[in-house]
Amino acid sequence: MKPAERARELFRRHFGTDPVAVASAPGRVNLVGEHVDNFGGHVLPMATGWRTAVAVGPGHAAFRAISEQQGPIQADWPAAPQGHWSDYVAGVASLDSPLTSPWSEGLCAAVASDVPTGAGLSSSAALEVATGFALSAWAGRSIDPAARADLAWRTETGFVGMPCGRMDQIASARATPGEAMLLDCRTLGIESVPVRLDVVIAESGESHALRDSSYADRRRDCDNALAIIRGQLPGIEYLTDIPPARLNEVAGRLPAPLDRRVKHVVNENQRTLLAAQALAAGDVRAFGLLVGQSHNSLRDNYECSTPRLDAIVSAARAVAGVRGARLVGAGWGGSVLVVCDSGAGADVAARLRADATLALPLVSVVEAGGGAALETD
Ligand code: GLA
Repeated sequence: MKPAERARELFRRHFGTDPVAVASAPGRVNLVGEHVDNFGGHVLPMATGWRTAVAVGPGHAAFRAISEQQGPIQADWPAAPQGHWSDYVAGVASLDSPLTSPWSEGLCAAVASDVPTGAGLSSSAALEVATGFALSAWAGRSIDPAARADLAWRTETGFVGMPCGRMDQIASARATPGEAMLLDCRTLGIESVPVRLDVVIAESGESHALRDSSYADRRRDCDNALAIIRGQLPGIEYLTDIPPARLNEVAGRLPAPLDRRVKHVVNENQRTLLAAQALAAGDVRAFGLLVGQSHNSLRDNYECSTPRLDAIVSAARAVAGVRGARLVGAGWGGSVLVVCDSGAGADVAARLRADATLALPLVSVVEAGGGAALETD
């Protein structure tokens, strides 16, 4: 059964009534442009076919939520953040017209998902965005995907407290099937690029307990670097304003490790622009080289890789039909993205699954899916 049917069923079983609305939203794979969305850079995500569905209805003065995987929870309404999976649902509902909406009196929600969690594939953005779409339908409002992405991002940063950029929520809300989006995180402008290569995702199964704190540490490094650079170079609003031709000079005046962080951000942004051109031109080889360089920089400059991710990347690069591999998402565990010649993905995935030394829990060929949608009966 699809997540939407499962969420509807779960709602009926647990709450004893039909949901008022059901919506679903996908996880994402970022092809290239990692750790630049907070710094005015460009990213190139596509949606996955894996989706999360949320069914919603009235809650009678309480917040009651149930997830297929995590079980039920009950809390007072309006709900405060609890460091729990249900914060993503409660946060969207609390930030969205808390006093005038139908859910101001309470909320019931049932969640079913195929998006792997903790795998760098944006399971939290999928949950936030799906919740926002379902609530809009319940309130009888028209759904503006850009506004829903913004609400999901404000939930993640303001309610959950993760200082993330805007990529994941925009990809989940606004993706189009068969295409990646070149997203300018400064203007939020989007250009679509058809995905004419095969994408394989190898989940490392590695736990990422330090991801949130390390993510915030790196972001602080970059903010500190920006403050120093602004004192030296006029007209720099974001790190990605540093002209690539002056990068070595600017980085050379920064203390370590800030110099490495800045090198990553500026070069990764350039790589993303080049990669989008290569993808549009169908040049999988050039695209794969940029993906490989991205991993090397994430490992050496942004320092968000792990020995296991590095080992998976090296093994993947040696498989016939592979053009490039890198960690995907925030890093510190999660998954490896493997870029393959068009048509080669299934064989590459089979090779990686059969590699006993890697012992990968899950290897999948991923098609570029569509963004969030309402789910009718
Ligand atoms: C996480 C964040 C995104 C982005 C990536 C790294 O997925 O949610 O905003 O910063 O890490 O590119």
